[in-house]
Amino acid sequence: MSVAILGYGVVGSGFYNNAIKANVDVKYIFDRPEKNTPKGVIKTNNIDDIINDKDVFVVVETLGGLDFAYNMIKKCLSSGKNVVTANKEVVAVYIDELTNLAKANNVYFLFEAAVCGSVPIVKNLFEIRNREEVLEIEAITNGTTNYILTNMYFGSELDDVVNKAIELGYAERNCDNDLLGLDSLRKITIMADIAYNTKLDLKDVLTYGIKNVSLDIINDIKNRGYILKSISSIKLNGNNICIKTIPTLLDPTHPLARTDDSYNRVIVRTNKGSYEYHGAGAGGNPTGAIILEDVKLVLSGHNYNDYVNKNKLSINNNINKYYVVDNSNNIKIVDKLEEEYKFIAEYKD
Ligand SMILES: NC(=O)c1ccc[n+]([C@@H]2O[C@H](COP(=O)([O-])OP(=O)(O)OC[C@H]3O[C@@H](n4cnc5c(N)ncnc54)[C@H](OP(=O)(O)O)[C@@H]3O)[C@@H](O)[C@H]2O)c1
Repeated sequence: MSVAILGYGVVGSGFYNNAIKANVDVKYIFDRPEKNTPKGVIKTNNIDDIINDKDVFVVVETLGGLDFAYNMIKKCLSSGKNVVTANKEVVAVYIDELTNLAKANNVYFLFEAAVCGSVPIVKNLFEIRNREEVLEIEAITNGTTNYILTNMYFGSELDDVVNKAIELGYAERNCDNDLLGLDSLRKITIMADIAYNTKLDLKDVLTYGIKNVSLDIINDIKNRGYILKSISSIKLNGNNICIKTIPTLLDPTHPLARTDDSYNRVIVRTNKGSYEYHGAGAGGNPTGAIILEDVKLVLSGHNYNDYVNKNKLSINNNINKYYVVDNSNNIKIVDKLEEEYKFIAEYKD
């Protein structure tokens, strides 16, 4: 039984390195013809080579992006191949369709690496929600923005830290997905879908990023006795949930306030207790290692994905107070967003 990798970039090569150490046989790498790939592995740009090879039992999708990757996954599942993906864009939009397609074809569709890199939240959340009621999730889900905010807290300018994050491989050259909160939006949506067996629309999630944060803002927040973090959260209230990803002023005693650098942390509170998961939020090697765990589960016949889209929840996103900065750089605390602001955060006093 062998594995095929679609997309030999940061994560695909990270997975490959982990797989060969674990004696998992990687037979194919699908990427562009000019891509350098390891000797002894068949390089292809034709998905049919993989689909038609009965020896390929699992396909690892690490292409990234939405449409092309979605179509590749669909083709593989429809052809009876198990799929493991790290692609949060695809999972956030197509969790329902692809899980059903996998079931219909008697194969697995696993995606631990799609949420918070090496933090094992997906499998654990499936387990938790099967025995307890999830009341609240609070998380730092984006390693790049956490690295940026941590360094700005200690005095660095935004542009300098963004460049450093790119240099260190935490951020892509165009890191708008991170800075606008879109990456976190996808991760918190997937967590809500799992926690409540529901299918949320991405546009229902309140989303603000840190693109216009400045050292002046960070210092003002510090002087008020708070620490600024980008927080993704879900709170259950009867049949409603509040779901958002927004820069938030945290009291320094809050458990997420000192989750620093590129680390991620997820706190799940249920009717029975509280669970915390912490780890590297990104990077080829840690993400590749967690993909390998999913591949091993498939190879040993263990499927944690029992997602069913069966509940409809209403969304009620209420925020009591905002910390805002207007276009003339005035800082205000407001109850409602009544004009254009260049920076918006949640303020809890
Ligand atoms: N980077 C992380 O730390 C991290 C962590 C967790 C999850 N993820 C997820 O993992 C996935 C991969 O991320 P990555 O950082 O590894 O991306 P990446 O470095 O850009 O790797 C993607 C690879 O797939 C290739 N590819 C894309 N479209 C293709 C196509 N149509 N035909 C042939 N080859 C194609 C790319 O080639 P080109 O470069 O030529 O397009 C590249 O070699 C994404 O879904 C991402 O969200 C990443």
